[in-house]
This record gives sequence, C-alpha cells and structure tokens, in this order.
Amino acid sequence: MPSNKKIVISQFGEAELLEILDVDIPVPQEGEVLLKVAYAGVNPIDVKTRAGLGWAAQHNKNNLPWTPGYDVSGVVVKQGLGSKKFNLNDMVAGFIGFPLRGGGYSQYLCVPETELALVPEDISLKPAAAIPLAGQTAAQALEKAQIQSGETVVILGGAGGVGHIAVQIAVAAKTKVYASCSADNLAYVESLGATALDYSNPDYLKEIGSVDVLIDLVGGQAAIDAMTCLHPGSRLITVPTITSSLVCEQASERGVIGMGMLVEPEVTQMEELLSLISSGMIKVQIEQVMSYQDVVDAHKKVETGRARGKILLDMQA
Ligand SMILES: NC(=O)c1ccc[n+]([C@@H]2O[C@H](COP(=O)([O-])OP(=O)(O)OC[C@H]3O[C@@H](n4cnc5c(N)ncnc54)[C@H](OP(=O)(O)O)[C@@H]3O)[C@@H](O)[C@H]2O)c1
Repeated sequence: MPSNKKIVISQFGEAELLEILDVDIPVPQEGEVLLKVAYAGVNPIDVKTRAGLGWAAQHNKNNLPWTPGYDVSGVVVKQGLGSKKFNLNDMVAGFIGFPLRGGGYSQYLCVPETELALVPEDISLKPAAAIPLAGQTAAQALEKAQIQSGETVVILGGAGGVGHIAVQIAVAAKTKVYASCSADNLAYVESLGATALDYSNPDYLKEIGSVDVLIDLVGGQAAIDAMTCLHPGSRLITVPTITSSLVCEQASERGVIGMGMLVEPEVTQMEELLSLISSGMIKVQIEQVMSYQDVVDAHKKVETGRARGKILLDMQA
C-alpha cells in the first residue's frame, strides 16, 4: 500500500509551521477521480493564507488543519462512480478547490473531474502544474481590461508567475507591451516580447507617455505611483486583493477606470492555455522545482516576491 503524504497548515504563522502528515489514500466519490499528484504549484495566495492573511485564511480559520494548493498536475489512478471524463493513467491538471477547498499539496487527492483538463502528450506535467491559477489570472485580467490590438499596455510585475504569462498573451494580442521588473529580469522580460522597464529607476514610466491599460500585479504604493502613465478613461486592473480598494479609490480620483478582480477557475480556459503551451505560443517559466519535503523553503522563496515565473513542489520526490 503506497503512503500518502500531505502538507497542512495547523496554525497560521511562519513557514516553519507547515507540517507533513501521513494520511490514508482517499476514495473517490461520485464524479471524482483519484489523482496521483506529480507537481503542485505554489502561489502567493498559499503563502498569504499560511500567514493568516486575506480572505482564504478568514474562511478557513475554523477549518484547520487545512491543506493549501490550487494548482496540480498528475495521473488519474482511480475513478469514482459515474466518472467518465478521463481514462485511468490519463495525465491531467487543474485549478482545483478554489477558493476554500484547496488540497493540492498532497500525494494522492480526490478531485471532481469537472475541475480537471487533459494534458496534451507533448506537454510535461511541470508546466501543466505551473499554469492553472497564474495563467487564468493573466488571461482574465487582460479580458477584464478588454485590451484591443494596437493599444498600449503596461504590466507591473512582468517577470512573476502571473506577469510572464500576461506579457505573452498581451503581445500575442498585438498590443504594445511595457513590463516592469528588476534589473536582473530586464533581458528575460524583453525575451517575452515586451519593452522592459527597471522599476528601481524612479522615472521608469516617464518616457512612455500615457497608456491605455495598466495591469497591476504588485499593488499598493507601486500601483499608485504607476498611475502617472494613465489618463482619464485609461483602464487599470489591480490584481493583488489586499490593496485593491485603495488602488481603485486612487484611480477613480484621477478619472481612471479602476477594477479589482478575483480569478475564477474555468476548465475551458485551462484547456486553451494548455493548447497555447503546446503550440509554443506561451512559454512557461519555472524558476525551481523543489521536493515537497522542502515546502518551507518553497514558501519562503515565494514570500520574497522575487521568483521569476513559478515555483513547483515535486510531490513524488
Ligand atoms: N486577485 C486574484 O485573483 C489574484 C490571482 C493571482 C495572483 N494574485 C496576486 O497577484 C500578485 C502577483 O501574483 P504572482 O503569482 O505573479 O506573484 P509572484 O510570482 O510572486 O511575483 C513575483 C514577481 O514580482 C516581481 N516584483 C516584485 N516587486 C515588484 C515591483 N515593485 N515592480 C515590479 N515587479 C515586482 C518580481 O520581479 P523582480 O524580481 O524582477 O522584482 C517577481 O518576478 C500577488 O500579490 C498575488 O497574490 C491575485
């Protein structure tokens, strides 16, 4: 009988409080599949929730121990009654259990089959676990901004998990894309097709004039400072939820159309993103794949806010 390790938050606080438990392998219920998880993506929301911050922590505070993780890829090893979307041994991935159930940091996990997409044979399970939440956030932020070909878009945080995908989608939509990042990431962001702007220069937005759309993936004062490149009628999508009301208020005072957002899992969008990866239109950047046993270090890395692309947990190693 294989063992089943899962990572839990039993109390909110530092990364060191994360625990690895040995639990029974769950039995898939009607409409579910049992997934042998290969990789789980680590997202900033996992880290904030572990620290007790944000609405996911509020909603789960009476539900501890709780297993984080919304991004998974793996193999179907058992089917519940009536489950027929996939075959045994199919490779699948998804943006699962969002926002309350989570559970991705597990070696074996039951998931409603409706939350999963088939991973094309030419895609490895690593990018498949990296794309779900970040890719759908990027796609939905750009949809919400209603970007049009020929427009100019600024993306704050172009090298991060959401940012590197947003840059590529915006470039493919034939917009002129500027993206902010640190000096270390300038060449990388340029390689995605954007004009990279080093945010350590206080005048980094001065040269570009006024733009149509700002996609803010940093939030707070950085977003407020960046509003100098907007004019009345420009659209601003601010993605970090914790500072979203503040940023939208400031936008409104400038006549800018400011909107917050909360990503929603959509399987068809996940399938489209997988097919864009398959066709080479989107390249997924994975900074590091770490063993699930190093989950504390993985959380600390994401907590720095400096990862290029995504950090994954290898749930098998
Ligand atoms: N509302 C929603 O539904 C939703 C969904 C997904 C994510 N989010 C939030 O959106 C934010 C971005 O998510 P993510 O997954 O992309 O985060 P992430 O991967 O942790 O972002 C890391 C990136 O941020 C960049 N960065 C840090 N400070 C910066 C600054 N001042 N200016 C420009 N870039 C900066 C870093 O680039 P350098 O190393 O080059 O500085 C790094 O590449 C997070 O706050 C997350 O919680 C919200």
